[in-house]
Amino acid sequence: MRAALDKLKLNAIYDRVAHHYDFQHAFFTAGSDQRGRGLLVAAAVNAGDKVLDCGAGTGSTALLAAKKVGQSGKVVLFDMSAGMLAVAKARAAKERLEERLRFETGDMLNLPFEDDSFDVVLSTYSLCPVYDPAKAARELYRVTRPGGRIGIAHSCQPARPWVRWLADRVENVVWRFPALSLGCRAVSVSPLLEQLGCVTTFKKRIGIPLWPFVVFVMEKPRP
Ligand SMILES: C[S@@+](CC[C@H](N)C(=O)[O-])C[C@H]1O[C@@H](n2cnc3c(N)ncnc32)[C@H](O)[C@@H]1O
Repeated sequence: MRAALDKLKLNAIYDRVAHHYDFQHAFFTAGSDQRGRGLLVAAAVNAGDKVLDCGAGTGSTALLAAKKVGQSGKVVLFDMSAGMLAVAKARAAKERLEERLRFETGDMLNLPFEDDSFDVVLSTYSLCPVYDPAKAARELYRVTRPGGRIGIAHSCQPARPWVRWLADRVENVVWRFPALSLGCRAVSVSPLLEQLGCVTTFKKRIGIPLWPFVVFVMEKPRP
């Protein structure tokens, strides 16, 4: 796995790109990013759920979740970038969903929430830039209630060796421009969550050949 960008640098990049992030991410992923968010929310979120969207960014996933949980549910948007969350707040106001939402800034490696406090914990593309994805995944697990769902979408390696070779070359170039790469790289956290006893209830590979994503939902075991 490629080493992550420094946390402060990453924060500054996301603050800076916040206003064109949605366009940029959709452009480089040919719109498959939004497909992943939709799949995840459809598979993981139910009406009335209390949901945490970790690394919520500009709120694309959280807004979908807020519609699905309905008036009796709640969605917390958590991100280290105040700039990204400011865009999310403006979008929420436009869609009149603020009452179902709460916004918090901080580091997802040390979530300021009690153990077992959410029905559903989501992370769409936010483990990709994180400097310690395994530790972040443990935090997602910790704050999910037993029997609750953890829904994750992240970049993964292309399946075919020659596409992987090409993707590596492209990434070498793109990584010279952090505002382009956004610090995102392929990660892998499902083996760790399986070790912790989680059971996969949904899994799909999506995305373009050079930049595939894996989208999956796991259920946290009950004691
Ligand atoms: C690629 S964006 C994904 C945003 C959003 N989830 C989406 O679907 O577009 C990655 C997000 O993770 C956030 N992030 C990265 N490292 C973080 C950390 N250690 N703690 C909290 N948020 C982090 C960034 O600020 C950014 O908003």
